[in-house]
Amino acid sequence: MIVLGIETSCDETAAAVVRDDRTVLAERLLSQLAEHRRYGGIVPEIAARAHLEHLDRLIAETMEAAGVDFTALDGIAATGGPGLIGGVIVGVTTAKAIAAVAGKPFLAINHLEGHALSARLTVELPFPYLLLLVSGGHCQLLAVEGVGRYKRLGTTLDDAVGEAFDKCAKLLGLGYPGGPAIERLAREGDARKYRLPRPLLGRPGCDFSFSGLKTAVRQAIEALGVDGLTPAALADLAAGFQAAVADVLADRTRHALSAFRARYARGRTLVAAGGVAANETLRKRLEATAGVAGFAFLAPPQKLCTDNGAMIAWAGIERLRLGLTDALDFAPRPRWPLDPNAPKAIGAGVKA
Ligand code: KG4
Ligand code: ZN
Repeated sequence: MIVLGIETSCDETAAAVVRDDRTVLAERLLSQLAEHRRYGGIVPEIAARAHLEHLDRLIAETMEAAGVDFTALDGIAATGGPGLIGGVIVGVTTAKAIAAVAGKPFLAINHLEGHALSARLTVELPFPYLLLLVSGGHCQLLAVEGVGRYKRLGTTLDDAVGEAFDKCAKLLGLGYPGGPAIERLAREGDARKYRLPRPLLGRPGCDFSFSGLKTAVRQAIEALGVDGLTPAALADLAAGFQAAVADVLADRTRHALSAFRARYARGRTLVAAGGVAANETLRKRLEATAGVAGFAFLAPPQKLCTDNGAMIAWAGIERLRLGLTDALDFAPRPRWPLDPNAPKAIGAGVKA
């Protein structure tokens, strides 16, 4: 089985051709960083236009590198949401057109399911498993029971963790995206120099909150003043912020590990996915947290953590195997929770 995957939900235009034996036949990714940089964040209209401009060529290149034509495909998968709607429309429309012309099934993929199943593209990983999904728009703990079957154990009450990295990086003058910049700078800093808060740490449950941490970083910067914000102070703040995030993620995940163990007799693996799971410090910390609870830890290679086409193609393969194809009148979804039965959370958690 061979599936073409298309990802256009944010600021990366990506395509990949993946085979059901876990071989990525070809993949291409075009980052729009340069186009958004001077605005200090992603501008949805610019993103949509850039996807429209580059996607056809990117798909052609990916198909050529994979050595297949559309007739050799078993399905065409595209991110159908959640995300910036202009970009999602571009990807979905393109995928539908290919599917219609080639007479192949179309698969609308929930971007979050792409992240959630990405670990299964790298190794044989049976359901159920506990998933920490940490990206620019989401921060959730979920029990993954199967394809399309998720139980949310916790979510953020305000900012997503990647969003917190990006906002903190902006405060520190590091530019976008903030995660990799903070991780790099934190290596030179002393995490104990500034006492930053650990929101919800030690509280029952598995929910997250990051806005207080961001505010504390802003207050520390204001207290330092322009002269006090030396390169060393910046590094210490980056390290302090990352350490606080690590403590919070470890604490909330520890609670989720207990809840998961109580609910599921099988499945003793913690998976981290999404852009923030690319962070080495956080990966090590989560591995230790899983180990204490007797769980194995798994995080896909870094380029599979941040947005990519291969995870969309793989989710397409998983759904195609189960016959879960979509009609050509599928409407792109700006919001699309993995667990529709989870109670509404306040703040950004509502997005998912
Ligand atoms: O999954 P992703 O590529 O896009 C979304 O679906 O949101 O995640 C992007 C987020 C950004 O907020 C970015 O700052 C963060 O992931 N990120 C990181 C790292 N690499 C990317 N955060 C912390 N450490 C990193 N190394
Ligand atoms: Zn993503």
